[in-house]
Amino acid sequence: MKSYKIALIKGDGIGPEIIDEATKVLDAIASVCDLHFDYEEVLMGGIAYDMTGDPLPQETINKSLNSDAVLFGAIGGQKWDALPREKRPESGLLRFRKELGVYANLRPAVVYDELINASSLKPKIIKGVDIMVVRELIGGIYFGEPKGRTQEKGWNTMVYTREEIVRIAHQAFRIAQTRGKKVCSIDKANVLDVSQLWRDVVTEISEQYPDVALTHMYVDNAAMQLVLNPKQFDVMLTGNIFGDILSDEASMLCGSIGLLPSASVGEKIGVYEPIHGSAPDIAGQGIANPIATIASASMMLRYALGESEAADKIDRAIKRTLKEGYRTQDLAQFDAKEVCSTSEMGSIIANYATK
Ligand code: IPM
Ligand code: MG
Repeated sequence: MKSYKIALIKGDGIGPEIIDEATKVLDAIASVCDLHFDYEEVLMGGIAYDMTGDPLPQETINKSLNSDAVLFGAIGGQKWDALPREKRPESGLLRFRKELGVYANLRPAVVYDELINASSLKPKIIKGVDIMVVRELIGGIYFGEPKGRTQEKGWNTMVYTREEIVRIAHQAFRIAQTRGKKVCSIDKANVLDVSQLWRDVVTEISEQYPDVALTHMYVDNAAMQLVLNPKQFDVMLTGNIFGDILSDEASMLCGSIGLLPSASVGEKIGVYEPIHGSAPDIAGQGIANPIATIASASMMLRYALGESEAADKIDRAIKRTLKEGYRTQDLAQFDAKEVCSTSEMGSIIANYATK
């Protein structure tokens, strides 16, 4: 039996509810795949601030680095919005990403045929969409210096070094090799020097991947093309802030932000988390969609632990659940045969995953 140590960060809002469903599915899979998961819960976000005065206690970093992978729920909420920036849950998250060195954020946007009517776009535009946004996660304007504010002025700086662009470009090309063999690199090279460097370096690295076709697109055009003709994209390679924006947009092609998982990877460890936030408005009601988190657990099995058979079982179970018409509240209007709670959804997927 193989045993893995998983650091669990439940976080705030719906975080605890959705993580509980992901571990339910993982434990079900463990029983049929001869695996064992050893969970260690660590604190982060608003709850960490409330309990320790720090949204990212050092212990969380240490224990995460000491695990095989990190499974992450969601953090943040209005309750902590008035705190000084460095005490806010979001600052904890950014520091966490930096400390763990997870520079590559992989955000797949795949349209499930079963939910083709759930998108605000026409079925013929989105049927078959399968995009992987590869977003640089620990550089760019989120981290660049100088930054600051006075009463009269606020400023941040978008900085990328050659080395940062090189490593994320390699990730994108390698991922493209396993998929549709296309990379579209997103920038604003017509205006920003940092983007011109981005474009030049990505082009340079592309020479090592002759089997992958590289194109470049300005970010404003990319935002438009995503809703005009999303099927043109395979891998979208972006910097930090452009990827933040475009991945939210891409998620909506799929109907609900409650469906989409993500992986953040680097040299040391991976963090697996849904792309949605902590949704404090629906927390504690048992109506959150746990699918994004369960799919994140599947990405964790595949990318961090090399357990692709177990991951396939989960992915198939999610599809089957949707196909049979089980829906959480967010998707209740779309071909639902039965509307279920967060925990019922988790149980159905867990059950199918073992079949
Ligand atoms: C995301 C989120 C975060 C980000 C926030 C919460 C700091 O929007 O993971 O996309 O901007 O990276
Ligand atoms: Mg975001």
